[in-house]
Amino acid sequence: MTRTALITGITGQDGSYLTELLLSKGYEVHGIVRHTSSLIANTSRLDAVYQDPHESGRRLFLHKGDVTDAGLLGNLVRDIAPDEIYNLAAQSHVRVSFDLPEYTANVTALGAVRLLEAVRASRVEARIYQASTSEMFGLAAPPQSETTVFHPRSPYGAAKLYAHWATVNYRESYGMFAASGIAFNHESPRRGETFVTRKITRAVARIAAGIEKHVYLGNLDAVRDWGYAPEYAEAMWLMLQHAEPVDYVIATGRPARVRDFAEAAFAHAGLDWRDHVEHDDRYERPAEVPELIGDPAKIGREIGWRAKVHWDELARVMVDADRAALRAGE
Ligand code: NAP
Ligand code: GDD
Repeated sequence: MTRTALITGITGQDGSYLTELLLSKGYEVHGIVRHTSSLIANTSRLDAVYQDPHESGRRLFLHKGDVTDAGLLGNLVRDIAPDEIYNLAAQSHVRVSFDLPEYTANVTALGAVRLLEAVRASRVEARIYQASTSEMFGLAAPPQSETTVFHPRSPYGAAKLYAHWATVNYRESYGMFAASGIAFNHESPRRGETFVTRKITRAVARIAAGIEKHVYLGNLDAVRDWGYAPEYAEAMWLMLQHAEPVDYVIATGRPARVRDFAEAAFAHAGLDWRDHVEHDDRYERPAEVPELIGDPAKIGREIGWRAKVHWDELARVMVDADRAALRAGE
């Protein structure tokens, strides 16, 4: 029997890696794609697996939609009757959430409830993955684990915490197979260009090519636990294959500061980061999350997932990809 998955946020970094993983496992994959005013939809991260609607034997289906539209979600869940649902859709940028707090709550918090409610109302027996985040820990001291008390520091963190508890609540109230992966930062060459790792590696490529001289950053002392996004897609899938719906921290456990990542990325191109990184207040946040370091012991012990790529290798992989893309004129 072909297994079927529905992915919200399929056009994002994680959505694209998860799609590739599920297609490689023989799944039929359905994804929700937002409407844009441009003819070409925002599907560039799916280019490698895109299938023309006229092809026969197609296993990837893209549906126009939005997680702010409850009716659409209800119809899709009922019509597709997926075995697995991955809720990855979000306004996922922390800094942007301070400028768009209500919008962020509507998409990131209420979007999850709309989806849970669509599944409950349809009575479809789907397993649900909710993309929770280390940002929910906020000020809590590291290392953060499944038992750490949450203290979010941004509208995004608060919205994700609401979605997280809604997921727990639907599991406890209705016996649904709904589980949250509390993922720490994960990156890749497909990372959005305004997140700090990709902003740095793109700048390294352009500076090494002589196109630019400087990159402007905010807080260099923030500590993050950066992992490699394709491995986190594997963790999401493994969580839905588990016998029980259980929430897990997904992390490497290896911390680095923003300045460490910058140093490693510039050094990989033979450059000294101190010659090229300038400070700009605009990239500071009204409230910062100083230190996120995950404790991935539980997911390792119970479902055998362990991060393989750590932040310094990640910096090199991303610099190489951005330099290659620049050379290719992308
Ligand atoms: P991303 O690249 O920002 O992707 C977000 C996805 O959500 C995109 O496909 C986006 O569509 C879609 N989206 C935004 N608003 C939507 C709406 N109203 N309706 C439907 N779709 C909408 O994020 P990511 O890095 O892949 O992360 C995936 C999920 O994991 C997100 O929920 C994020 O908050 C969470 N998370 C990420 C990390 C991380 O470090 N990457 C860590 C913890 C949790 P467009 O392409 O049209 O913008
Ligand atoms: N974006 C950005 N741009 N961040 C900067 C900059 C800059 O110019 N300069 C310093 N930083 C610092 C931020 O203040 C933060 O402490 C750190 O770099 C990481 O910022 P981001 O890459 O924007 O990621 P994030 O940690 O805020 O959020 C990401 O990870 C979360 C998981 O912890 C996002 O992917 C969230 O969606 C995700 O939930």
